[in-house]
Amino acid sequence: MKKLSLAFLFAAANVALAQMDNPAMTNAPETKAAPAVPTLQIDAGKVTGKASPTLYGLMTEEINYSYEGGLYGELIRNRSFKADPAKAIYWDAIRSAISLDKSQPLNSALDVSLKVDVSKASKNSPAGIANGGYWGIPVRPKTTYHASFYAKGSHFSGPLTVAIESNDGKTTFASGTVDSISGDWKKYEVTLTTADVPVSKDNKLVITTTKPGTFFNHHGTVWFQQVSLFPPTYDHQANGFRPDIMQLLADMQPKFLRFPGGNYLEGDYINERFNWKQTVGPVETRPGHRSPWNYWSTDGMGLLEFLNWCEDLHMQPVLAVFAGYALRHDYVKPGPDLAPYVQDALDEIEYVAGSTNTLWGAQRAKDGHPAPFALNYVEVGNEDWFDRSGSYDGRFAQFYDAIKAKYPQLQIIATAKVKSRVPDLLDEHYYRSQEEMELHALDYDKYPRDSKTKIFVGEWATRVGSPTPNMAGALGDAAWMTGMERNSDIVLISSYAPLFVNVSDLGRGGSMQWRTDLIGYDALNSYGSPAYYAQKMFSTMRGDEILATDSQNIPLKDYQPRNRPKSQIRQIFFDATRSSQNGTIYLKVVNESGEPQSVKIQISGASIAPEGTATVLKANNPDETNSIQDREKIVPTTEKVDGLSADFTREFPPYSITVLELRSK
Ligand code: AHR
Repeated sequence: MKKLSLAFLFAAANVALAQMDNPAMTNAPETKAAPAVPTLQIDAGKVTGKASPTLYGLMTEEINYSYEGGLYGELIRNRSFKADPAKAIYWDAIRSAISLDKSQPLNSALDVSLKVDVSKASKNSPAGIANGGYWGIPVRPKTTYHASFYAKGSHFSGPLTVAIESNDGKTTFASGTVDSISGDWKKYEVTLTTADVPVSKDNKLVITTTKPGTFFNHHGTVWFQQVSLFPPTYDHQANGFRPDIMQLLADMQPKFLRFPGGNYLEGDYINERFNWKQTVGPVETRPGHRSPWNYWSTDGMGLLEFLNWCEDLHMQPVLAVFAGYALRHDYVKPGPDLAPYVQDALDEIEYVAGSTNTLWGAQRAKDGHPAPFALNYVEVGNEDWFDRSGSYDGRFAQFYDAIKAKYPQLQIIATAKVKSRVPDLLDEHYYRSQEEMELHALDYDKYPRDSKTKIFVGEWATRVGSPTPNMAGALGDAAWMTGMERNSDIVLISSYAPLFVNVSDLGRGGSMQWRTDLIGYDALNSYGSPAYYAQKMFSTMRGDEILATDSQNIPLKDYQPRNRPKSQIRQIFFDATRSSQNGTIYLKVVNESGEPQSVKIQISGASIAPEGTATVLKANNPDETNSIQDREKIVPTTEKVDGLSADFTREFPPYSITVLELRSK
């Protein structure tokens, strides 16, 4: 095979790019030469850049019941009774009268409680309350749950029975007793262990008494706050995470976590932002807040929990700080008005990364984590291009100057273009159809290499399939990822969004606010979409050197966007990276067409061993998908491949994503 010279590669790349840019040129040889076998060329003698080791990470926020009813282990819905100021939603009365009571606050954060009149209780008819969790309470055999609540009684001193029961009340899976309740607020804890029972989710937590406690005209009354039930968590951590979802994430080997949003960082209004200082410390001192995705967050998943999540999965935090702009266009003017928010961000950085000799580092130690977290990236705001006031340039400059002055080593990410400062990275967001993803898959090839500002693709997704993407989504994503990976000398970090969806109630006002999400779950099970598996393949199989590539005769398809000129899109996408450690070349090939595609692969500058491996994700049609009922319909398979060399032909199946691992001889 002819060795690709630098000049040839340059010229070929320019032709390819010109063809993408200029629809008139795309009519030419490539379509007419359709019968010719497409050829992918890799110049292993030419490394075009160092691949970013942190390219693939996670983006997360409270949306689609991501934490509450998702990753966060808590099973009780509306545990602090603040989800609705008018009534105790998600709670049922059992032969009792229940109401919200502002006159018996637990503290200033949890300033309302559930008043339960149990005066109708009797030996054969217990009275109390029940909670059905987030679309069910998962019951598993031989499992220990930790129940806890704050309570106080008036003319009532217990006992209380705490039980996990089936919704029809016919089966009690586990129960325990609190013998007496005092007249002052006190925390009570009960351990509930199931026997060898079948797995189920149509269950509830029930707290009842058989003693009415009534004294003359006084009704026996008990108040509750912070009623909690935790199953075993990932790594057995208190206030921890759901193990099955954590395992799905761990398998992706993500390198960073962008948190806490997204819109969730901003809130609809400034007073509904993610106010980090109110999310740390004991959970019963966190007031909680309304998420812009229209449901209540207890903030049990607070700043330290995000950091623990990073630590558990060896991810570095990409900390987004509130930058004085909320979704409904409230903003804080740069200057003295913004100064308290800038200070809040500095305090937050200190909480994350400061030593225990600092005020906020000491607070983190008090909260249970003396060691500082390694922090490299701070993002100022979220999608500030929505700020029509034009204040972002000034707001960004104020944050940038203050953060750089105190922490010059931090990389600062802007969320919209600014002129006043040179951000270290710019956060770009792309939610697109499959065709648009593919059409733009070569965009970063044109990004100026001398730019001081690098790229963070902080939210991206092919929005096909719901609640989780189907194979068409995975193909669009994979095409896009070849572009990011080939350019990961300038695209340093990237994260798909949204990450999670609870699929229990897909109707209006139910568990889903965004219709295409990477990982789905209900109270019992979780699954990865085809797009999840595509990303896992890209993230876990790649090298640290980007190799020069070129191609000939790639088949094209017509694309007619609405209200825009017709264009053509490639049907094969690819990129190649190599491990500098062992010389393995990772060639990723996406065949988005419905036909098997024979492709000639020519590699110069390396000797290729005949044996390698191929990991393939494929479907019979682009609509095929995984679901909560059929969780592993589409998963990658890995096989040994023989007959590899520096010049070989391989057939790529229809609708497929392949990672070929080519070893050097
Ligand atoms: O990912 C869903 C939302 O999309 C994010 O919250 C926001 O940043 C974007 O508009």
